[in-house]
Amino acid sequence: MEIEWKDKIVLVTGAAMGIGREIALQFARSGAKVLATDLDEAGLRETASLAGGIETFVGDLTRHEVLEALRETIKETFGRLDTLVNNAGWAPVTPMEQVKMSEFDAAFGINTRALFELTHLLLPMLQESRGSIVNLTSAAVGVGHANMSVYSGSKAAVRSFTKVWCKEFAKSGVRVNTVSPGPVMTPIYDKTELSPEALEAHKARVTSMVPLGRFGKPEEVAPVVVFLASEQAAFITGADIAVDGGVTA
Ligand SMILES: NC(=O)c1ccc[n+]([C@@H]2O[C@H](COP(=O)([O-])OP(=O)(O)OC[C@H]3O[C@@H](n4cnc5c(N)ncnc54)[C@H](O)[C@@H]3O)[C@@H](O)[C@H]2O)c1
Repeated sequence: MEIEWKDKIVLVTGAAMGIGREIALQFARSGAKVLATDLDEAGLRETASLAGGIETFVGDLTRHEVLEALRETIKETFGRLDTLVNNAGWAPVTPMEQVKMSEFDAAFGINTRALFELTHLLLPMLQESRGSIVNLTSAAVGVGHANMSVYSGSKAAVRSFTKVWCKEFAKSGVRVNTVSPGPVMTPIYDKTELSPEALEAHKARVTSMVPLGRFGKPEEVAPVVVFLASEQAAFITGADIAVDGGVTA
């Protein structure tokens, strides 16, 4: 594995914590050079301190000028890009009656629009390297989770992008797949507007939907992302791999 990833450049978004941090660490430990990006500077610093070979780029990916600066940084620092992992995201939990359109815009802004725009900007570099893309979607695409319509819709779009892009990008040798986690214990659950009691009820409802009866761990998601990006997955494109304890089975 180390030989395969040596001299390969991997961009991981949302890498300051949670699943993205673990993805960045597992690529770095496999020998890749990783650019970890996020708006949380302190979190990124901590990620970079946990393995060698991780550079950081701080910025809000919903801003066009940040995405352009990120592309220029990749060009200047590494001169190439082999793998793009679109992981940054936000998951509001709000009953339909209480959804604010600002919440809708924020969720689609990072989960859907930023992912689309970043992929668009970096595609020429990925075509040059015949690289690959892994998009993080969610079990919430395959199964309705009450109070998560905004989130589910924003991730369903990503699943659709992936299926279309797989057909468009194949001719230039770029593969694109999705990984759909079920509930994974990360700081994402602390970023809702739910009261502590409502949050506990939400977690209990989510756990009850998991046949394996527990939350997953970031370490159980990251290896699947690394595999999909690797040469071992050379004949896999347009696929969705569920890492969800059986939620969508
Ligand atoms: N944890 C779960 O249960 C779960 C389940 C299914 C899918 N997912 C998906 O997996 C991915 C990672 O989730 P996680 O649980 O690790 O979340 P997390 O909240 O722990 O981490 C998300 C990261 O994205 C970053 N981010 C958010 N908005 C950003 C922006 N505008 N610009 C730059 N960075 C931004 C955050 O700062 C954070 O570091 C997300 O796309 C999420 O939707 C998570």
